[in-house]
Amino acid sequence: MSEPSVRVLRTVAEFRAACDAVRSRGERLGFVPTMGALHAGHLRLVEAARRHADRVAVSIFVNPTQFGPNEDFSKYPRTLERDVALLAGVGADLVLSPSADEMYPAGDTTRVRVGELSEHFCGPFRPGHFEGVATVVTKLFAIAGPCTALFGRKDFQQLKIIERLARDLRLPVTVVGEPTVRDADGLALSSRNAYLSADERSRALAIPRALAGAAERFDAGVRRAAELIEPVRAALSAAGLRPDYADIADPERLFPFALDATVGERALIALAAFCGTTRLIDNLVLGEDPAPAVSG
Ligand code: PAJ
Repeated sequence: MSEPSVRVLRTVAEFRAACDAVRSRGERLGFVPTMGALHAGHLRLVEAARRHADRVAVSIFVNPTQFGPNEDFSKYPRTLERDVALLAGVGADLVLSPSADEMYPAGDTTRVRVGELSEHFCGPFRPGHFEGVATVVTKLFAIAGPCTALFGRKDFQQLKIIERLARDLRLPVTVVGEPTVRDADGLALSSRNAYLSADERSRALAIPRALAGAAERFDAGVRRAAELIEPVRAALSAAGLRPDYADIADPERLFPFALDATVGERALIALAAFCGTTRLIDNLVLGEDPAPAVSG
């Protein structure tokens, strides 16, 4: 068997040509956009891409426009060599690792405005974040061309926004969402987990436990929004986490239910909470996603 090989491309032109070459051979392209610092959640997306396509491209770009002025853009982990080795191990074919100037040429001013899907959840707490995500993903889709692009349900609001932008802008991209990958203790994998101290990490487990609790109540027939979400909020606070929000909403419109509402057969619980200085997000679609398996 030959050694797996990955081509790492630095420019838009080279990556576009390589993606075009895949299609001109009659092969299907799978595409996994990332910001690097890869973990098993990202690698699972590459494996899923291989099931949807003949060749898999991955982008690694820490996108400046999606970070707020007080966020972790400069300290975000950058581990390109390790990332490329991991990608070779799961059979990726192409990697785009561009400079900021390559993605945002001098004088760039064009932005993609998202609209209603960014009005709740992370939107109000991270002004400009989803506009930055939508802009870079639109650029990446324009560069990669027709493909199947895979995203994690871990970032559920982001996934819904990207599905919508591909549809609204008539982009030749099929967007596929994949399940959240969790550590053995239930914590959703995130590049930001690397910032957690041991004590913070154990307190962060309140998140998957709270989601598992909500799933249990939902499965027992509870449908009143307050009874589903209020214990989640209480559990986060009891663990010393500081939630930006913990809400229950319609999973397609991302519009929160009032506390006295009765939820339907599917309901999204989504939350963001600070654990120390690290902001963690997680979610679960009740009635659809398996409850996180939590240990301890
Ligand atoms: P990043 O945080 O690197 O995530 C890249 C992809 O991996 C996203 O689709 C994200 O949802 C998915 N992912 C992350 N953790 C996951 C987990 N535990 N289980 C399953 N999937 C997981 O999301 C971004 O980058 C950026 O916003 C990007 C879309 C690349 C635009 O810059």
